[in-house]
Amino acid sequence: MSSSGMPDLPAPLTNIKIQHTKLFINNEWHESVSGKTFPVFNPATEEKICEVEEADKEDVDKAVKAAREAFQMGSPWRTMDASERGQLIYKLADLIERDRLLLATLESINAGKVFASAYLMDLDYCIKALRYCAGWADKIQGRTIPVDGEFFSYTRHEPIGVCGLIFPWNAPMILLACKIGPALCCGNTVIVKPAEQTPLTALHVASLIKEAGFPPGVVNIVPGYGPTAGAAISSHMDVDKVAFTGSTEVGKMIQEAAAKSNLKRVTLELGAKNPCIVFADADLDSAVEFAHQGVFTNQGQSCIAASKLFVEEAIYDEFVQRSVERAKKYVFGNPLTPGVNHGPQINKAQHNKIMELIESGKKEGAKLECGGGPWGNKGYFIQPTVFSNVTDDMRIAKEEIFGPVQQIMKFKSLDEVIKRANNTYYGLVAGVFTKDLDKAVTVSSALQAGTVWVNCYLAASAQSPAGGFKMSGHGREMGEYGIHEYTEVKTVTMKISEKNS
Ligand code: NAI
Ligand code: MG
Repeated sequence: MSSSGMPDLPAPLTNIKIQHTKLFINNEWHESVSGKTFPVFNPATEEKICEVEEADKEDVDKAVKAAREAFQMGSPWRTMDASERGQLIYKLADLIERDRLLLATLESINAGKVFASAYLMDLDYCIKALRYCAGWADKIQGRTIPVDGEFFSYTRHEPIGVCGLIFPWNAPMILLACKIGPALCCGNTVIVKPAEQTPLTALHVASLIKEAGFPPGVVNIVPGYGPTAGAAISSHMDVDKVAFTGSTEVGKMIQEAAAKSNLKRVTLELGAKNPCIVFADADLDSAVEFAHQGVFTNQGQSCIAASKLFVEEAIYDEFVQRSVERAKKYVFGNPLTPGVNHGPQINKAQHNKIMELIESGKKEGAKLECGGGPWGNKGYFIQPTVFSNVTDDMRIAKEEIFGPVQQIMKFKSLDEVIKRANNTYYGLVAGVFTKDLDKAVTVSSALQAGTVWVNCYLAASAQSPAGGFKMSGHGREMGEYGIHEYTEVKTVTMKISEKNS
């Protein structure tokens, strides 16, 4: 441990042999029913890492059957003492901590994450999130309710059942923990579909699920594509809930599939265009740095990116100049290499989408301050890009870019900036920078977002619920609110013979 409480950063592993490439169902490794596999790539080198068994509808059916069986009344999982359920999740967190170096290296190779971030941030959050949920397992309880004296009424918070957990590639270990942690601590069973781009860390975690001692069928992991494996989960008649993170477009499809099948419960964590507002009285150094980190962390591949930055007129030019200086301080390259702090985008499709949006910014008249193009001749790198003189009607001000692109807009008054910040279909997170308490409270109350950070950004913790207003989703993840998204409330009312008081 360093003096900051963070573990020291080891060197990444070299020459990793990929051990797990099959589907994990009932605590066993399965080949796909179709016999098909799909390739998994390293986005920094464009090289294929391995082939992974490709789940489709029949494989999802097998996984759902296993999960349903594990959820039957009287099963080992259903009859387990809740505190023992918590112990299993603690054990899983311990095993992930044991294998932290391997998992961070895999995450870096497969998701293009800067190794130091994967090791120090993603794995840290993942382990903490699981431990947070483990602690909840034996504290999920209902209430007794005062009703008419002839009756006695209480609630039970029961697990929902078989939960499908579908998530993207931008933070595979964090997303996995934020979904399996709450689902398992409440006593559900799960089918996990990691993103097709990044299934490798989830498959290693599958081996740890078995090692930790979870009963067969409680956790099933089925890598595959969205329209096949993903859609089979969201439209399945025997899946009771889907928790999804990803694009707003697919979120709508998931909700529609749920409605058209069995009205399964749906929680969604979707796209966003997050406003970050800097008033002239803010601590400038700190605001520049947070706003910068807010959008460039993970090469901008983040649903909580500070992608709509409003800066008050009086400090606008200075802010732009400092932000540009900051954005130029990057070392590009293979994210496993020590010292490299800017990795690739996840794939060609994302690279092209981002480049197209950058071009639209240039065409629509924003001022390109730095970056604006790809980097290198291998891997999906894009230079950190800053646009100034951005206006609200430009595509770069309205659409989720999901890349290393900062757009800086100017504002004059508090009322104006609140209106402009809320003028979007999204509402995931927001930031406000000011030393004036009145402004901080007024703006954070007025912003339509599930999280508002004041004088900071990206300050997420397992204890705090996260989720979206408007088209950024519904439901919350993590925190106590997030735990309750995985329970059904049952009221039990009994007639009693003697009137009680
Ligand atoms: P996506 O929403 O297509 O994929 C996310 C997950 O959903 C993956 O596991 C995928 O296999 C699955 N999926 C795709 N189609 C499905 C379907 N019909 N039924 C069930 N599951 C399905 O996201 P994609 O294509 O990787 O990225 C597109 C855009 O989405 C990005 O450019 C970004 O704007 C946004 N995005 C937002 C994320 C967030 O954290 N909210 C994360 C990743 C992407
Ligand atoms: Mg997609």
